[in-house]
Amino acid sequence: MATLAEPPQDFTSLPEMPEGVFTAPLKRPEHLGEDWLEPKQTEYDSDDDAIWNDLFARQMEVLPGRAASAFMQGLEKLDLGRGGVPDFGDLSAELDTLTGWSVVPVPMLIPDHIFFGWSVVPVPMLIPDHIFFWHLANRRFPAGNFIRTRETFDYIQEPDVFHDVFGHVPMLTDPIFADYMQEYGKAGWKAMRHNRLKALGSLYWYTVEFGLLQEAPGDIRAYGAGILSGPTEVIYAVEAESPNRIMLNVDRVMRTDYVIDDLQPTYFVIDSFEDLYHQTVERDFDRLYRNLDPGFTYANTAVIDVDDVLHQGTLEYTLRGGRGSGAKAV
Ligand SMILES: [Fe+2]
Repeated sequence: MATLAEPPQDFTSLPEMPEGVFTAPLKRPEHLGEDWLEPKQTEYDSDDDAIWNDLFARQMEVLPGRAASAFMQGLEKLDLGRGGVPDFGDLSAELDTLTGWSVVPVPMLIPDHIFFGWSVVPVPMLIPDHIFFWHLANRRFPAGNFIRTRETFDYIQEPDVFHDVFGHVPMLTDPIFADYMQEYGKAGWKAMRHNRLKALGSLYWYTVEFGLLQEAPGDIRAYGAGILSGPTEVIYAVEAESPNRIMLNVDRVMRTDYVIDDLQPTYFVIDSFEDLYHQTVERDFDRLYRNLDPGFTYANTAVIDVDDVLHQGTLEYTLRGGRGSGAKAV
């Protein structure tokens, strides 16, 4: 199939998206500039800070021994448990000395043209994809500003400041992972021009959000922010019998479907962040996209011939109906 011209490799200025490249129908609020960044971080009150402290304490009961060592070290280096929602300026100053990254505040927006059936469902989104990629390519991590409430303390689908900062930012202190995130941002524009955003999105999902790491034979840890920012999935992803655990293969993962509102039936495991970096940066994505049938994906429960399987799951949780069915995360 025809593909659009190669994007320029200069990431210093915002990309021009050619006509025909899909971008989500988001309206930029008037007070934001072209970079879509909020001029400053939200001010939090004492209730907000107490919610952060309680979420932090809850995670610290389940993370030791289950979270990747690099993540735990990142928490400590950035002192994310110092009390209250962290200040993005302080975080950025510390990150800058470690890996050259910063954390920047972005708004939560409701797109106005997304229709499902008869009703308009407000799907909260952050910033347009090409702007998100642009920030990553420049080592800026766009983080949500708002914090969940007591009513949504246990489960919230949209990424709040706890998910974004507690879940993602500690990994940015790891030099190799920090480089991987930047390369991911650079790869984004290419995927958009090939109309293969869904494939690249699967890679983000199964690494940055839900990745597992084998630190030593049999010692599986989580490094994905989607796992590490909630209490249930940490134990399920690392220890439960239900999910498949399969060694990461970039081509395979980019052909794999995923769910956004339930525990994953399958996780992909890396041996090291060097392995993740090399598998991604050395893959010729032009060739991959040319050979990728746009309509085809593997089901997220599938185990296929090429898989190097660490644990073939019983899929009991998923087969019993998953979230909402009362199934236990076993
Ligand atoms: Fe996330």
